[in-house]
Amino acid sequence: MRTPIIAGNWKLNKTVDEALALARDLKGKLSALDDIEIILAPPFTALAPLATALNDSAIVLAGQNCYPTEGAFTGEISPALLRDVGCRAVIIGHSERRHLFAESDDFINQKIKAALSAGLKVIFCIGETLTERNENRTFEVLESQTRNGLAGLDRAAMCRLTVAYEPVWAIGTGQTASNEQAQEAHRYIRNLLAKMVDSSTAENTRILYGGSVKPDNVDGLMAQSDIDGALVGGASLKAGDFIRIARFKRN
Ligand code: 13P
Repeated sequence: MRTPIIAGNWKLNKTVDEALALARDLKGKLSALDDIEIILAPPFTALAPLATALNDSAIVLAGQNCYPTEGAFTGEISPALLRDVGCRAVIIGHSERRHLFAESDDFINQKIKAALSAGLKVIFCIGETLTERNENRTFEVLESQTRNGLAGLDRAAMCRLTVAYEPVWAIGTGQTASNEQAQEAHRYIRNLLAKMVDSSTAENTRILYGGSVKPDNVDGLMAQSDIDGALVGGASLKAGDFIRIARFKRN
């Protein structure tokens, strides 16, 4: 039985005061949910204040990105510094990083290794573009992103990794993947992990869906057997929507 994860990726939104107000609201209303994991990924500037505000709660703080090493890398953030400020997880390989900032699978692989060795859990994002889907290349893209992004990781490392399937065409567009499209991709990813690592690791790995998850579509998505949670963008910025998503109805 995989414990569901509902994660909010706030992207580049929220001042410190706004972030604190939202986090306090969520903490008050989500603390009764003890059978799911809640992860919040605010912008870097809000991490330290949120770590203090959430230190008596089970909500996990995550960074939205990291750089594989420390030193003379102006403007970057390392896994060790994320840990230092109270993060227990980090999102790596988000499609906005891949497409807007030209991050390669190899670079993403370096980041994953660095984050895991610093003791962070990793939410590893993959997903095809609309063109790739229309060209029937979805599985091929998912396979190469997964194999290259996770190259060299052993079974122990895989146990601290969550996969997020986020079709690029569904992110921020309001066009969610259908339940069947999402389930098909998640099943494919789980089978691939079984081939790459082993079947018990694949069965235990949480695979989240991301891309226009909203209160009115979360229940159908979460009813799919290989969907173990959601990585929520826009709807995570509103307390009411995120709380409803976290309280998805189980079958
Ligand atoms: P939206 O929920 O706004 O589509 O964003 C999804 C996402 O990118 C989460 O990482």
